Amino acid sequence: METLLQNPLVVAASCVVLILLTILYRALTNPLRSLPGPWYSTFTRLPLKAAIMSGRRVFHVHALHQKYGAVVRISPDEVAVSNREGLAQIHRIGGAFRKTEWYHELTAQGDGRYSIFTMTDPKEHAARRRLLARPFSKTFLNQHWHGTVRELTRMAVRRMGEAAKEDGGKVDVMQWWTFMTMDVAGRLMFGHSFDNLERGTVSDFMRVVTTRLIVTGISVELPWIKAIAGVLTLLPVPALRNMFSPNDALYEHGRKFLHSIQASESSSNIFSNIATEAEKGEKLWMDDVHLEASGLIIAGTDTTSTTLTYLTWAVLSRPTLQRDLEQEVSQLPGDYTDTDLEKLPLLNAVIEESLRLYGAAPSGLPRAVPPGGTSIAGHFINAGTTVTTQAYTYHRDASLFPDPDEFLPSRWLHDGISAEAKKAFHPFGAGARTCVGLHLAYMELRLASAEFFRQCKGARLAESATEEAMEMENYFLVVPRGHKCEVLLGA
Ligand code: HEM
Repeated sequence: METLLQNPLVVAASCVVLILLTILYRALTNPLRSLPGPWYSTFTRLPLKAAIMSGRRVFHVHALHQKYGAVVRISPDEVAVSNREGLAQIHRIGGAFRKTEWYHELTAQGDGRYSIFTMTDPKEHAARRRLLARPFSKTFLNQHWHGTVRELTRMAVRRMGEAAKEDGGKVDVMQWWTFMTMDVAGRLMFGHSFDNLERGTVSDFMRVVTTRLIVTGISVELPWIKAIAGVLTLLPVPALRNMFSPNDALYEHGRKFLHSIQASESSSNIFSNIATEAEKGEKLWMDDVHLEASGLIIAGTDTTSTTLTYLTWAVLSRPTLQRDLEQEVSQLPGDYTDTDLEKLPLLNAVIEESLRLYGAAPSGLPRAVPPGGTSIAGHFINAGTTVTTQAYTYHRDASLFPDPDEFLPSRWLHDGISAEAKKAFHPFGAGARTCVGLHLAYMELRLASAEFFRQCKGARLAESATEEAMEMENYFLVVPRGHKCEVLLGA
């Protein structure tokens, strides 16, 4: 016995056997063991992790739903759900399913402060939401921000035309929509213009904003990357810090912008009143204000610009639709407003269809099963399990959206989609955690796309804007895999 234990090979083999037995024991006693799903999801998260790392999570989970049905075990402790009852149950307002710790990891400030997007405690969240709901309401936006959004959408389309003239008629609309959405977010949150549209070049801050979710998303999966990144960011190279520690870089910018609010006389931005309250020590602390404001820049930039990019691409891929839309928006008066646009049937149908197929956040929204467990579609799921619902799959349910993979704005016209389909349609999330920026997003989508199809009649896709280049890359949000969408103007 003594000699056996002295043999390193025997010790190593015993450890391996012990680990395997533990995995087997856990697998066989796990309450999720009877759920449908691939055999490997009982034992390992690796295939899911590989899909996340390669930006293919939504496709991986969608394929599992198609094979195994509406409730699928996708890893030892994670279950994906795609039926309507499950969606209503998990995201019910006042329900007990909380956001999971995964959201905390996204902020990773380490000081216990979280933004409206990343906080998991319902009471804390409700208080924060109350504070932000009014400035993001449709009425408030119309009264205070319509002019700014209108001005910036116009400027975006004008600047696209100028950029195209300098490049033989070609322009990357994705880049210009991103300049625009970030300028809108900067003006609304901080009263500070990032001047992206004016400059027309990608700033360091914009790079941080557009890469942050990818970097943080991957480092949640591979914690050792965080450790290496931590060391790299100690080097005095700002580019490394922006790349590997985007949260720090982001909050630093947030602080700077907040100073510009405090220095400015004007109170015409969403955070100025909240910041004043915070200075008095009421409602929010200053650290919370800059955390929120920076977070809202992220939440409001790539989301709307990606949706606009896919909308532009989808319409330009269909000449008849393009002609009809150009015709509809050409009837508008020169001083049209967002209220005028809300009345245009085709424009709004195109927007809804773009959100259905290409909404920027179609991934599973992770929630934790509350104490006592839950039952979905006859399957018991124990407390603590992560359940996800992905809009990508709900929006491609053929029983609700016939020809689900086809871009068909006509399905939204006349009587529109069925009541059941409406319940399943949730490009902005669901329940108490639904998108607070939804009205702003719709306002930008309407004003920007109307202006584009009025001013850029006859625009065509450049050769580079292929199906392949526009395939979605998914790191929580989606972007075209080619990271651009080139269009030819002035044809
Ligand atoms: C087309 C554009 C947009 C899409 C598709 C979108 C989508 C979403 C989705 C799906 C969620 C739920 C996330 C979850 O449950 O984990 C969400 C939440 C959120 N969004 Fe948006 N969003 C868009 C634009 C915006 C804009 C313009 C802003 C603000 C400037 C914004 C701010 C937020 C915030 C703060 C939350 C968290 C709300 C909460 O938990 O109470 N979003 N968004």
